Amino acid sequence: MSYVQAVEAPERNIGQIKLYDSAEAFAGMRAAGKIAAGCLDMLVAEVREGVTTGRIDDLSRQYLFDHGALPACVFYRGYRHTVCTSINHVVCHGIPGERVLRGGDVLNIDVTCVFDGWHGDTSRMYAVGEAPRKAQRLMDITYEALMRGIAAVKPGATVGDIGHAIQSYAEAERTSVVREFCGHGLGRVFHDAPNILHFGKPGQLEELKPGMMFTIEPMLNLGSPAVKVLNDGWTAVTKDKSLSAQYEHSVGVTADSCEIFTKSPAGLDQPHALAG
Ligand code: MF3
Ligand code: CO
Ligand code: CO
Repeated sequence: MSYVQAVEAPERNIGQIKLYDSAEAFAGMRAAGKIAAGCLDMLVAEVREGVTTGRIDDLSRQYLFDHGALPACVFYRGYRHTVCTSINHVVCHGIPGERVLRGGDVLNIDVTCVFDGWHGDTSRMYAVGEAPRKAQRLMDITYEALMRGIAAVKPGATVGDIGHAIQSYAEAERTSVVREFCGHGLGRVFHDAPNILHFGKPGQLEELKPGMMFTIEPMLNLGSPAVKVLNDGWTAVTKDKSLSAQYEHSVGVTADSCEIFTKSPAGLDQPHALAG
């Protein structure tokens, strides 16, 4: 894998890792990340029994428009919605629609916006009313796994170090790591090099360098890690129908560690942990 100065690269995935080491790029990602995170903050009060996932999508789209941003997922590979709403055993890419939220459901809401050409991509878990204890535990572990992955990010570390931090913790807690979906480079391009695997060995894969920007978005299951995609071409579910959870942040590698672009401005980074 090779690296390229982002300002010299075309704005598409060319298989090289873009380095965005300018204050302007970090400011752009901070602004985009803040809008995406603000959208998830807004949804904390909207996720409740009786609400449809389509309504959550409408509110999200309006929030992005109101903040001068666009939904990056609309028309992305034929997707037509602003957010993905992945409920219970849905791993990711759940399609918003008529489904009504019920007490005891847990769901991931994943939003990606584009603001001034920069992408903000983040997701969190929400509980509808009170979540079952095992769901609560899975969501706690998934958030902690994400934060351990982020803690591994610094120049000189590798993509394998991130995956190892996540996998070793998740498996020690008797959960499993989904292999089919990964984090990704992010910046002017939505899904860019490199892939950020949520499993791996220390010291393996690409070295992290200042100016790299990417997401970390582990999906953890209570049962087997196996997933399948439904006939709609999007909805990924656990094969064994066990519960799945995911959290996602967008980050940028700094001189000595990393900056999280999608931290909650309102301190609502873990909606699932709020009293139902
Ligand atoms: N936001 C998702 C991610 O984390 C991508 C969703 S693609 C879509 O990469 F088309 F399903 F929206
Ligand atoms: Co996302
Ligand atoms: Co992502």
